[in-house]
Amino acid sequence: MSSANTSQSSSSTSSSAVVTIVEPSVSDRLLVALAGSRPPGFPKGPATDAAPDMASAPLALLSRLAQTQQGGAGLALAGQLVVVIWSNDALKFVLSTDAHRFQKDGTAFFPNSILTGDGLLTSDGDAWKRQRRAAAPAFRDAAVRRYSRVMASNAERTFARDWASDQVVSLWSRCNALTLAIAGEVLFGEDFLVDDADALTTNLEVALDEFAARGARGFADPEWLPTPGNLRFRQAVAAVDEVVLSIIRNRRRRLQTQGEPEGDADLLTRLVAASGAETSDQQLRDEVTTMLVAGQETSAIALFWLLVDLALGSAANATSTSPLSRCTDEVDALAASKGGESFTLDDVSRLRYLEACVLESLRLHPPAYLIGRCATMDTTLPGLGDVPQGATVLPCAYLAHRTNQWDAVTSYEPRRWLPEGAPDAPCVLSAEPAHDAPLFISALKDGANGTLRGSPMYIPFGGGPRNCIGSAFAVCEVVVLAATLLRKCSMRWPGYTSDAPTDNLGRLRVDDSFPIAADAGLTLRPRTNPLVSLRIEASSPACAASGRYTGFANTRSVVHPALPSAAGADSPSAFSRIATDTLLSRDVSSPPSSSLADDDASSATLFASSSSFLVVALQAVPPVHAEVVQATVRAAN
Ligand code: HEM
Repeated sequence: MSSANTSQSSSSTSSSAVVTIVEPSVSDRLLVALAGSRPPGFPKGPATDAAPDMASAPLALLSRLAQTQQGGAGLALAGQLVVVIWSNDALKFVLSTDAHRFQKDGTAFFPNSILTGDGLLTSDGDAWKRQRRAAAPAFRDAAVRRYSRVMASNAERTFARDWASDQVVSLWSRCNALTLAIAGEVLFGEDFLVDDADALTTNLEVALDEFAARGARGFADPEWLPTPGNLRFRQAVAAVDEVVLSIIRNRRRRLQTQGEPEGDADLLTRLVAASGAETSDQQLRDEVTTMLVAGQETSAIALFWLLVDLALGSAANATSTSPLSRCTDEVDALAASKGGESFTLDDVSRLRYLEACVLESLRLHPPAYLIGRCATMDTTLPGLGDVPQGATVLPCAYLAHRTNQWDAVTSYEPRRWLPEGAPDAPCVLSAEPAHDAPLFISALKDGANGTLRGSPMYIPFGGGPRNCIGSAFAVCEVVVLAATLLRKCSMRWPGYTSDAPTDNLGRLRVDDSFPIAADAGLTLRPRTNPLVSLRIEASSPACAASGRYTGFANTRSVVHPALPSAAGADSPSAFSRIATDTLLSRDVSSPPSSSLADDDASSATLFASSSSFLVVALQAVPPVHAEVVQATVRAAN
């Protein structure tokens, strides 16, 4: 039986050739679906068609495959031949060494859509190479540094305006709205903030939502069918297109008069500048909406699971210091040394423990848990079997990250991402430039090659030539948003804290009974919409745990030359007292605050200490708009 008829748009089978895969005939599909017919040598797997399971409970299906098969499994999905792969050898083969045997077009998983059009995510061959080259400058460090300022200012504005203190909100909706606002501003710059912004945001939300829902339903339901969902979708996409095309035309005009984009240009300006006059408005529109599809919800999901993992992950480690309090300590310490400035790209490598948590959450909850390829020729997958031309191959990050090649595979272990011998406690107390590269760079490089601390494959951003062009953007975004949040608020989980199971230290236990479950569709969204409340400008969790107070409204750093002598004090509390007295005597070159009263001295506590630094926090004006003055003191050696 042939699974698909194929023809090639080019006579060669080089990497630039795009193969047109003709859909399998209805009779072929029925044979595969009903009779469980598989070509000889096809990888082993369930005999019956797995489409119902894939549509209703994909993670359960994947977990069953991992229990019964080694490294990969052959399936029929709605009569199409599909192989899910998770062994190192097969992943390296498909994503990297033999990537030219596979293409995006024709996969049974990722829907062709009027939303993405012919953008970078779905294109193949020479067109993809051209698009990737044109898009690359918009993702270099200098550009991401500019975007990181948009991320931080959006987060600060949003937390102050929309996440009122103690109000119960849906965490997932808030994460999603936040990354959508950021994606809009990063892409369109000031154009996203003017009149059409609300309409654009609403229509984008509808379009992205329907797109994800279609992906979650799987293999039927083409976009042209006049279902209510499709009609809503088409209407929203048309409205988005109208605004986006007009922004693109304006941008072209502006570039013609102003020349090269400036350093703080938005992503669209960079794309227009790099694409050249021969690129049509429609192609630029496809690139822009592709960036939204590829980068917005995935980042929201990454932030969501990070916050959930931080709230709950400590239970998996039987240690007294939770990942959340370590992150908060690290964030507070860096914030103190930055004197209240926003976090940016440069802080990613300073917030090493938080970044390690981001990597660990992406391991356990990779937003793109399955990625799709179509075989352009008959191929043998290493260790698994033969795959005919036209079959779909699905590299599965979810299973690759959960095989027992990983140490403590089910535990939340951020430390696995830190260099051997790195201190357990956060050590970032200075805003000096960090010399080490962010952790994710080696994690993605070594992880995709299976050489990370041994052999496991780490592929939250894919691997090989089609890896995620936005990975630095995404890691930066999640770190900046989480750091801004942790610095400003503590999170409470009403409804989950009281009756959810706890471990013997009284913390929440992470297991299947916990009501935040993943719901795999096109991405790994949460199934439920957990509620949280934020306490803003009150004790952060780490500070609450140690009885310390920190606020954030007007945090400043004061480094005073008189203070090193205080390091001679024989105990932390003595040091704290001396440092406090010194500050309160107003004999400082930079007075902490005109409203600082003498009796506030009692609330001064030792904030953190190491051999070379001591940090003191003073609470000045309680309760809500407390001003906190943080004095960073270099101790005498
Ligand atoms: C946590 C967030 C993100 C995750 C988990 C993620 C994941 C991925 C994965 C797994 C791929 C490879 C797909 C494949 O091989 O078929 C990919 C590709 C891609 N991603 Fe991301 N991504 C994220 C954020 C972003 C952002 C922020 C952007 C842009 C602003 C972006 C733009 C793209 C594009 C354009 C591609 C296609 C690249 C190509 O084929 O050359 N992604 N992403």
